[in-house]
Amino acid sequence: MDTALITGASRGIGAALKSELGTRGYEVTGTSTRGTEDLLPLDVKDPQSVAALAKDLKDHPLDLLVCNAGLYLDKGQSLDTDYPAEMWVEEFAVNVTGVFLTVQAFLPALRAARGKIAIISSQMASHTRAPGGSYIYRASKAAALNLGRNLATDLKSDGISVGIYHPGWVQTDMGGASAEITATMAATGLADRFAELSPTSTGCFLTWDGHPHAY
Ligand SMILES: NC(=O)c1ccc[n+]([C@@H]2O[C@H](COP(=O)([O-])OP(=O)(O)OC[C@H]3O[C@@H](n4cnc5c(N)ncnc54)[C@H](OP(=O)(O)O)[C@@H]3O)[C@@H](O)[C@H]2O)c1
Repeated sequence: MDTALITGASRGIGAALKSELGTRGYEVTGTSTRGTEDLLPLDVKDPQSVAALAKDLKDHPLDLLVCNAGLYLDKGQSLDTDYPAEMWVEEFAVNVTGVFLTVQAFLPALRAARGKIAIISSQMASHTRAPGGSYIYRASKAAALNLGRNLATDLKSDGISVGIYHPGWVQTDMGGASAEITATMAATGLADRFAELSPTSTGCFLTWDGHPHAY
């Protein structure tokens, strides 16, 4: 049975992905910052927490790592008066450093399975599409996209493929109730994308429904 690990599976897109990948036959491990009966504890910005999870799962080759955990703290901030430095630190720690630490900790397990890495970035990572605002979130998701592109290069010789994805504008705590698609729709599309990901397409930046996204 293929194995999958999803960070931030307590709610939203991560929870829907856990359910969707389970339906597709994966043995899925999900995480939550608090840890529950169903979810292992993980704070992606804490190196000790990441190391503890990797140690827990060390004997399991990993077929799919989904770096989904994310924060969007700067929604609606004012360019003139807001975006405090602490907010930059916190959001980058989760959205950028957290992705890197998680990938790094699970490299042995991914190598053992010649597995895949999916990074949930955003259309807000795009330099081409730059409507302004949300400076921290946009910069952090652009950095996550950049991580994914460079990991794809470095891990190609290990047979590990890396995809970077925009999950859609999704009805979750983060996306809000007026978002365009449900978490189930996003998860179904993303799971199709993960299935297609291969050494030929590694480094791709795609939307949930399979369209190449402008960098
Ligand atoms: N919703 C959208 O429209 C949209 C659009 C583009 C991209 N995205 C991206 O899609 C991903 C999922 O978003 P969502 O809408 O499902 O968000 P959400 O409903 O706010 O859920 C966020 C998830 O991330 C976890 N998380 C937050 N901080 C964490 C940390 N320090 N360590 C580990 N896990 C942490 C949360 O866990 P706890 O419950 O334990 O706090 C939760 O499971 C994010 O990367 C987001 O940036 C979302």
